[in-house]
Amino acid sequence: MTVDTLATLPKAELHLHIEGTLEPDLALELARRNSVDLPWTDLRTLSRQYQFDDLQSFLDLYYQLMAVLRTSDDFRDLMLAYLGRAARDGVLHSEIFFDPQVHMRNGLSIDTVMDGLLDGMRIGRERWGISSSLILCIVRDLPVESAQSTLDAVEHRVADLVGIGLDSAEVGYPPSLFAEVFDRAARMGLHRVAHAGEEGPSSYVSEALDLLHVERIDHGVHSADDPSLVKRLASENIPLTMCPLSNVRLHVVPEVRDLPIPSLLEAGVRVTVSSDDPAYFGGYIADNYRALRKAGLSLASLASIARNSIEASFVDAEDRARMLELHDSWKRRMEDGEKSERGNA
Ligand code: HPA
Ligand code: ZN
Repeated sequence: MTVDTLATLPKAELHLHIEGTLEPDLALELARRNSVDLPWTDLRTLSRQYQFDDLQSFLDLYYQLMAVLRTSDDFRDLMLAYLGRAARDGVLHSEIFFDPQVHMRNGLSIDTVMDGLLDGMRIGRERWGISSSLILCIVRDLPVESAQSTLDAVEHRVADLVGIGLDSAEVGYPPSLFAEVFDRAARMGLHRVAHAGEEGPSSYVSEALDLLHVERIDHGVHSADDPSLVKRLASENIPLTMCPLSNVRLHVVPEVRDLPIPSLLEAGVRVTVSSDDPAYFGGYIADNYRALRKAGLSLASLASIARNSIEASFVDAEDRARMLELHDSWKRRMEDGEKSERGNA
């Protein structure tokens, strides 16, 4: 197996914040282009800010840099940079979070943001054949009324979204706060997901299932602390979108090998892997797969994680079948290659 094997493995990315793909050089370029003052004007000093103690210290930089995004063209360029990179990592389909409340607080309209993102998604599909959809993420440490007014603002173009999510500072902002918001989103026809069990306890995962009726859990690392919850995730077929490099950089776990991924897989939980905020956490999706390989996961486990990601995506049956076929033929090629290597030995 070569290093690039994992970049050719057909997969879906289900946990990716588009603002978290803003690389420091693009942030500086956009700050200049849009005359936005940042405390850092060169790459060397900005790059020194990328050491985080926890989720909040990351969020402080992430929200600060988001201020450089001002026009639809900025959002299109950001999306295109990400999709080109993801396509090179074997991503066939990506479900992409964005944080409209923060952009609206920065004085932008939801249409400026979404028009740019959707334009990038259309061009990305034409250029690289990669499909994508948008998940509106609710920033949980802003007031609940702000979440409701975001849904008001997006109501006229709900067809441009596939789902609603819940992100930002977790501890102290339990899922229960957003039960009505998620009920409303469900009535609007949106799929539901939520970050839970990243820094927060396993009870937040249960709450997201019981009160928000989410179909996937983002992160869910702390689910593993509660054996009955692990059983439930497996029996109800609830996927986890896990992000190993993010969890290490934000000190959720000391090392990739400390993540409970092998035991969750063993228990029958549908684990998937994504990059979260790749410009901040030192790697895109294939780097996350490689980190797991290095931590001891077998190629077969990584292939089933990739298969899970396609199964857990919110695409229609026809697209899912097409992607699963690409995945399965990759697997057959790998197995044939291994057999002929053994034959030659
Ligand atoms: N966790 C919570 N909120 C976020 C994250 C994350 O990893 N990335 C962007 N917003
Ligand atoms: Zn995230």
